[in-house]
Amino acid sequence: MGQRIKIKALLESDETNIDVTVKGWVRTFRNNQFIALNDGSTNNNVQIVVDFENTDAALLKRITTGAALSVTGTVVPSLGKGQKIDIKAKEIEILGDSDPEKYPLQPKKHSLEFLREIAHLRFRTNTFGAIFRVRNSLSFAVHQFFQERGFVYLHTPVITASDAEGAGEAFKVTNLDLDNLPRTDSGEIDYKQDFFGKATNLTVSGQLEGELGAMALSDIYTFGPTFRAENSNTTRHLAEFWMIEPEMAFYDLDDNMDLAEALLKYVIKYALDKNREDIEFLSQRLQDEDKQKPQNERSEMTLLEKLEFCLENDFVRLTYTEAIDILKDSTPNKKKKFQYLVEGWGTDLQSEHERYLVEKHFKKPVILTDYPKEIKAFYMRQNEPDANGRETVRAMDILFPGIGEIVGGSQREERLDRLEKRMDEMGIPKEELWWYLDTRRFGACPHAGFGLGFERLVLFVTGMGNIRDVIPFPRFPKNAEF
Ligand code: 4AD
Ligand code: MG
Repeated sequence: MGQRIKIKALLESDETNIDVTVKGWVRTFRNNQFIALNDGSTNNNVQIVVDFENTDAALLKRITTGAALSVTGTVVPSLGKGQKIDIKAKEIEILGDSDPEKYPLQPKKHSLEFLREIAHLRFRTNTFGAIFRVRNSLSFAVHQFFQERGFVYLHTPVITASDAEGAGEAFKVTNLDLDNLPRTDSGEIDYKQDFFGKATNLTVSGQLEGELGAMALSDIYTFGPTFRAENSNTTRHLAEFWMIEPEMAFYDLDDNMDLAEALLKYVIKYALDKNREDIEFLSQRLQDEDKQKPQNERSEMTLLEKLEFCLENDFVRLTYTEAIDILKDSTPNKKKKFQYLVEGWGTDLQSEHERYLVEKHFKKPVILTDYPKEIKAFYMRQNEPDANGRETVRAMDILFPGIGEIVGGSQREERLDRLEKRMDEMGIPKEELWWYLDTRRFGACPHAGFGLGFERLVLFVTGMGNIRDVIPFPRFPKNAEF
């Protein structure tokens, strides 16, 4: 009886004439003789050669696409092209049958839309196998990056009573009977009777709690799920997404940008080294897709080239005001001078502006800083007004080609008077955030941090076009099936 070996390890070793056991799911079974078996450790299948003349016909019938098998046999040099070894089966055990009439995954190319509808089975395709192995490596690399630098992984709560972004996009959490809500005398919902004795919601960001940690541990990061009830019917938004949020005491905005750029390069390089084969597969997939498109819509670079380009180049850093000046004078397409930013300084950039800067103007990742105060969150450090009296904050957004905003962060407002004034202006309840304000009362110091949207990172590294395809179980409006 051979030892069970994962298919990836088996294919990487040169040893033949040994007995092994492999377990996995049937991708195809040709001529009653050749099983392509996959166990998810790699996209490469191992070929099992079946001695069909000496195998029970009833068993052969049960070797169908999707069935789970355990196969013991001898590793032999392959007869076929493209693979080094085969396994000559000695013993085949069906662990789980798969009715070929009903199994939704056929050995052919399925559309991503169709696979989204069977998200519970899509892991079994090459594309999703590659995506989720890359996602796994990126996630590990994030931890490794911070751990190498002495950051403390701080678990911030999923249920909170605050809305860190103040955008009113939080999902409520309650155990009240919705059909019979308790009311106060004035007719409002009586949250005192709710589980926590107050209104609570799912976190939109761990930042505020992260800041508390940084004010004692110096450098912390969170990496957890965050939730937003915003319009997530786009290819870039999810209602549940994972965010990496480091927070560092004694950092200013430049330090913050340096860290974010180093993190992005580190994790991309890690995935390129660790998952070369999967990324090459995804790169090829995109090239095949590109061939279907008209010449002018094809990508200038392959996925691999794009990732390597990103590692080799410094990100461009400029202020929001400088970006607006570029956009105002830009002619994004030949036919007409598109009127970018009609409303001018002070409005938020739309994704078409971001894409123009990154993909057409600079052709590199871009870090935009010093956004207008009015379009950013209350906690960002306020700059002195410029010569024109324009008010900005020490914000930074990192924009990536094909993605748009991948990171949002800032230096934080550590001055209590400035922070309280801004909260009043924006209607943020100070009494609710007394604990946050305490960090500005006792040993306040300059500090900064950012949030990296993990799925946007996975989108970039896998070259996929829709964020719903890079998270195992996407949550978006009217979808929480799996
Ligand atoms: O820019 P955001 O809203 O910033 C914050 O939440 C800060 N508290 C972060 C911090 O400074 N600690 O979100 C940060 C990033 C965005 O740049 C984007 O990559 C991602 O989170 N993001 C989303 N990703 C997927 N779906 C959504 N609905 C997202 N909203 C934000
Ligand atoms: Mg943002």
